Amino acid sequence: MSVRRLHPNQPKTFAFTPQNSAWAQETIAKYPDGKQASAVIPLLWRAQEQHYGWLPEPAIRVVADMLEMAYIRVYEIATFYTMFQLQPVGKLAHIQVCGTTPCMLRGAQDLVAVCKRKISTQPHILSEDGNFSWEEVECLGVCANAPMVQIWKDTYEDLTPDLLETILNGFASGTPPKAGSQIGRIASSPSAGFTTLTDKTIYAGNSGSNQES
Ligand code: FES
Repeated sequence: MSVRRLHPNQPKTFAFTPQNSAWAQETIAKYPDGKQASAVIPLLWRAQEQHYGWLPEPAIRVVADMLEMAYIRVYEIATFYTMFQLQPVGKLAHIQVCGTTPCMLRGAQDLVAVCKRKISTQPHILSEDGNFSWEEVECLGVCANAPMVQIWKDTYEDLTPDLLETILNGFASGTPPKAGSQIGRIASSPSAGFTTLTDKTIYAGNSGSNQES
């Protein structure tokens, strides 16, 4: 994982849109008195969505002020979680490649090679057209469908280099594929059919009334 620090070029100010501001107040009000700081992650996420997919430093201060938190506390949160982007990202897609052990053993580095070839040789560097960026991150919780990437809020799973190229082409043409497994399995069901609990007699029950005829 790369060093996470604020980008040197920052906007001077940040303000939530009226709509997002109203949403933020509703979100803060969900928490008991004295626990408003619990809203920090959803507010940072909404700020990031509003600001072209990355979180500028003035937004960190705005959120801290809204929640009466010290700036350093919110800065720590923004720099800890890789869900928060601290520098500009691709306009169409920011690819987060999981590089943790299960994905690594299933070919994550081949996916990184695609990103290096198609986007930029280094993570966090925009593609020439500014439409794509990528980085390697730690486990994204979809290990059973390794290797995988996350793009914005969605995960794309059971990948090969060719499948990742298809996904990138889909985003480039405005027709991204459906999220989830890219080999058609449902969630993490066995890719080659069931291999256990296949004896139907075990479902018969004591009376045998549930047996298939
Ligand atoms: S190791 Fe890649 S999702 Fe968990």
